[in-house]
Amino acid sequence: MATPTPRLNLLVFAASLRAESLNHKLAGLAARVATANGAMVDLATMHDFDVPFYDGDLETAQGIPAGAKELLRRLTATDAFIIASPEYNASMPGVLKNLIDWMSRFRPQPFDTRHGLLLSASPSLVGGNRGLWALRVPFEHLGARIYPDMFSLSMAHKAFAGDDLADAALQARFEKTLQAFLTLAEAAKHYPCMKKAWVEFLGEPPGAGEDRVDEPVGA
Ligand SMILES: Cc1cc2nc3c(=O)[nH]c(=O)nc-3n(C[C@H](O)[C@H](O)[C@H](O)COP(=O)(O)O)c2cc1C
Repeated sequence: MATPTPRLNLLVFAASLRAESLNHKLAGLAARVATANGAMVDLATMHDFDVPFYDGDLETAQGIPAGAKELLRRLTATDAFIIASPEYNASMPGVLKNLIDWMSRFRPQPFDTRHGLLLSASPSLVGGNRGLWALRVPFEHLGARIYPDMFSLSMAHKAFAGDDLADAALQARFEKTLQAFLTLAEAAKHYPCMKKAWVEFLGEPPGAGEDRVDEPVGA
């Protein structure tokens, strides 16, 4: 019997500390859609990753704080991440940038080669999209593979009907973006196994391809 393909593990959280956060609501929707599409989801909150302001003296005296270690643990336990981030003054919230700065002190770099999808929700008409462009910069600087498409929910305070988006066409577009990201993240997770299975080139005598077998990562 064939071994079932392991499911994709996904970390999802919103970069807002607010109890009534619209971004947390959008993160919840992303978690539900991802689960419906076969992923195993760890839905976190920004409070789980509480850290002081980055301070080199504090780092020297006490090391990297527990909140960043917790994000490292949950990030490395998963295959990819989704962040729903508010836009503050056309950029990312300070709490998220501060957390990214602490994360960048780990070696190896935790975001390096990790696939990520960025979402935003805002009461404004642009949905916080400018903040996501700003957020790409530190993530890509740290080696994260940020998915080219992003999803920004405008008029977010009026956009939900229960836990779903009120506009069916927008909900469908949200699900399509999620599914496309999950497909890429799944391909990245399983590609090493595919490489191992791919041993023969057309036109070559049997056996000739064997020395081209790649071992999967971690084998
Ligand atoms: C300091 C501050 C700056 C903000 N700047 C922007 C902005 O540049 N663009 C925007 O669309 N909304 C901006 N907002 C409004 C937020 O998008 C809105 O408060 C949103 O609900 C925050 O996300 P949350 O609901 O997940 O906490 C700002 C809010 C605050 C408190």
